[in-house]
Amino acid sequence: MADKPSFYITTPIYYVNAAPHLGTAYCTILCDVMARYKRAMGYDVKFLTGLDEHGEKVQRTAEEHDMTPQAWCDSLAPAFHDIWHTLEISNDDFIRTTEPRQIAAVTELWNRMKDAGYIYKDSYDGWYCVPEETYFTETQVAKADEERHTEGQHLCPDCGRPLERVKEESWFFKLSAFQDKLLALYDEHPDFVMPDFRMREVRTFVESGLKDISVSRTSFDWGIPVPFDDKHVTYVWFDALLNYATAVGFGNPDMADEYARRWPAQFHVVGKDIIRFHCVIWPAMLMAIGDALPEHVFAHGFLMVRDDATGQTRKMSKSLGNAIAPQDVIDLLGVEGYRYYFMTDCVPGEDGGISYGRMEQVYNADLANSWGNLVSRSLNMSAKYFDGKTPTLADGWADAANPLKDIAEGIVERYAAHMDRIAYVAAKDEIMELVHAANHYIEDSMPWAVAKDPARADELTAIIANLLETIRICAHLLSPFMPSTSAEVLRRMSLEGEADTRDLAAACAWGGLKGGVEVTKGDALFPRLGSK
Ligand code: MSP
Repeated sequence: MADKPSFYITTPIYYVNAAPHLGTAYCTILCDVMARYKRAMGYDVKFLTGLDEHGEKVQRTAEEHDMTPQAWCDSLAPAFHDIWHTLEISNDDFIRTTEPRQIAAVTELWNRMKDAGYIYKDSYDGWYCVPEETYFTETQVAKADEERHTEGQHLCPDCGRPLERVKEESWFFKLSAFQDKLLALYDEHPDFVMPDFRMREVRTFVESGLKDISVSRTSFDWGIPVPFDDKHVTYVWFDALLNYATAVGFGNPDMADEYARRWPAQFHVVGKDIIRFHCVIWPAMLMAIGDALPEHVFAHGFLMVRDDATGQTRKMSKSLGNAIAPQDVIDLLGVEGYRYYFMTDCVPGEDGGISYGRMEQVYNADLANSWGNLVSRSLNMSAKYFDGKTPTLADGWADAANPLKDIAEGIVERYAAHMDRIAYVAAKDEIMELVHAANHYIEDSMPWAVAKDPARADELTAIIANLLETIRICAHLLSPFMPSTSAEVLRRMSLEGEADTRDLAAACAWGGLKGGVEVTKGDALFPRLGSK
């Protein structure tokens, strides 16, 4: 393990005020695909997800259910574990901010911040949005009120729900001291924030000036106590952001080696609504305590629901009656189809317009008609013409030129360049080009006609071997998106030992096929969906 490079990727930790939904699943699958891809590239991956359990929002939700906050969180946590398990999420750790490791880490953070001189006590008098757990300045609120014509009622600039006035003694973090350092960070590491247009947004925000932020609360108690002031609990975001460091050993002397090896993270993947926390406050916190900064924060867009009839997209919401639950999509597409659809049809940096109509279209076109069909035709022909086996391969068969080999050569490099930037749609296009070419190759080479002529036996062997080899390579490349299907395809070619490769480039080199081994035809991988 120790000689493999570390790759550490995180999802946001989700609030436990409601069950997991399509949006939280989207972000988690984005990370899972990256984690699986990096493992296949030989990295020693740590993939973290978890729950954000403190704060006023969770406390209030628990009260509404007549439960203590801890009992409420405990009652909801299994729903997250279950859905991640169902969706084949391969996280290596699951953090809950009420765990002792997080409390120790936050305590250490306070002490180090205070020693470094970046914490001071003052009083806060301003606006707070409980559902968003966010403070807003008078200017931000006035601007939003004006834009929305709220006529005296102060609404959250982000979510539009009523704001509350908070007036209390508070500890402050000197965020203002980090403006120049943050701008220098963005200059030196232009891909600290991805995609580019989000980097520009973050920069503009920082250039407009940073104010110190309140990082403790006294008006409720569901939070980690401030170690040197027991009237105060930690502001939920100050606590939550640290989870990424906690999980690899921050604040735990017994994990110093692990921390040195794992930190900083390579990727924090977050939704566009929480980039200021991750791209401004979080790096400033790390700068304050002299710790290393994460390499990339990738901001994904929001899933919007597209009306199949009008083509209009709208935010998903229960009140609009267009909310879709993860289970609804699983029922329609199956887990693998679900993962494939969201990862390859929505450009990760942008808002994604999703609809049942589109799901069916993508599933039928890519999975049923193209990939599934290619696998089933090729395995069937192999079984039929070679007595239930893959053909016995002639020496040097892999060196012969053919149109599929031409496309397959260099495909891992092209695919990896996209995958490394979470450009999953482009990575999928590389694979689908090969799949489509293989389906055309069947039509052009007409193996059923070749099979009728015993004099063309070598030609038939080559055609079927080229097809099976293409399937083998595509199964590897598709594996981060659809791990079970890929494992199944390899198993049907008696290559189950390859399913868990840690060297994707070698696994995808043309010529890895095993000749003369058993082929299983199996059921259709993706039965066609009828019109809904
Ligand atoms: N607890 C904080 C994160 C703390 S991380 C240190 C939080 N939690 S959340 O549960 O409200 O949201 C978690 C993530 O879900 C965010 O990244 C958010 O962007 C994402 N999504 C919520 N609705 C979404 C969609 N409709 N579409 C895509 N993602 C969305 O914020």
